[in-house]
Amino acid sequence: MKTIVVSLGGSILVPSIGSHNFSAYATVLKDLAVKYRVFTVAGGGGEARRYIQVARDLGMDEAAADDIGIMVTRLNAALLAGALGPAAYPRIAETYAQAREYGESNKIVVMGGAIAGQTTDAVAAVLAEYVGACALLNITSVDGIYAADPRKDPRAERYNHLTPSRLMEVIRKTQMGAGSNTVFDIVAAKVIERSDIPLFVMDGRDPRAIREAVLEGAFSGTVVCKGRPKKLPV
Ligand code: UTP
Repeated sequence: MKTIVVSLGGSILVPSIGSHNFSAYATVLKDLAVKYRVFTVAGGGGEARRYIQVARDLGMDEAAADDIGIMVTRLNAALLAGALGPAAYPRIAETYAQAREYGESNKIVVMGGAIAGQTTDAVAAVLAEYVGACALLNITSVDGIYAADPRKDPRAERYNHLTPSRLMEVIRKTQMGAGSNTVFDIVAAKVIERSDIPLFVMDGRDPRAIREAVLEGAFSGTVVCKGRPKKLPV
């Protein structure tokens, strides 16, 4: 069985206070697990940002605030594992070595953040290397990688395909503005560049779109890889 890593942004798992989609994403992950060995990474979303802000208000340093963010990602990971029930390995992997070990159970392995100074994009990219994944899926609330933030510039171009080195350039440019929030973490982009595992970035606000993309070849978004664009299913 081939292995895939699926990174689910916190903003799609918990779109707003009081609403959540854990069950819907768990159903899709179980469908993918029929064909692939699945490792999944949960993001922290708005909840992480709110707690991080509280940490800053309290005068905690940035690394300590990151640790708070990691705790929120692990909360979301635990809820996702709960929604997966017996299909998931019952513990949340806190390190890549644990994730690999838990994967030997052939159950879906769930992970949150790992270390300060990055986001779960980087966790997913490193995990993809560790477990020998043939593809990394970044499921977010934006339908791909753009030349500029599409929420600020509606005319910004969306890329269908980028090489890893071009991705680094795009991130560097979009990082210039103060407080800007890039669609993909620079640490993650560096890992993608060296590992050459194809990265598929797509809008997964409708969980069915993930199933259609991965299993039925209906992917729409940005593919990051060297050479010609790779296609799903891998
Ligand atoms: P996320 O990965 O959810 O960050 O981690 P994000 O940028 O808000 O999410 P997306 O990519 O837009 O969906 C939440 C926070 O947790 C800390 C960081 O502070 C991050 O902003 N974190 C997370 C780490 O420090 N290390 C990690 O490995 C993961």
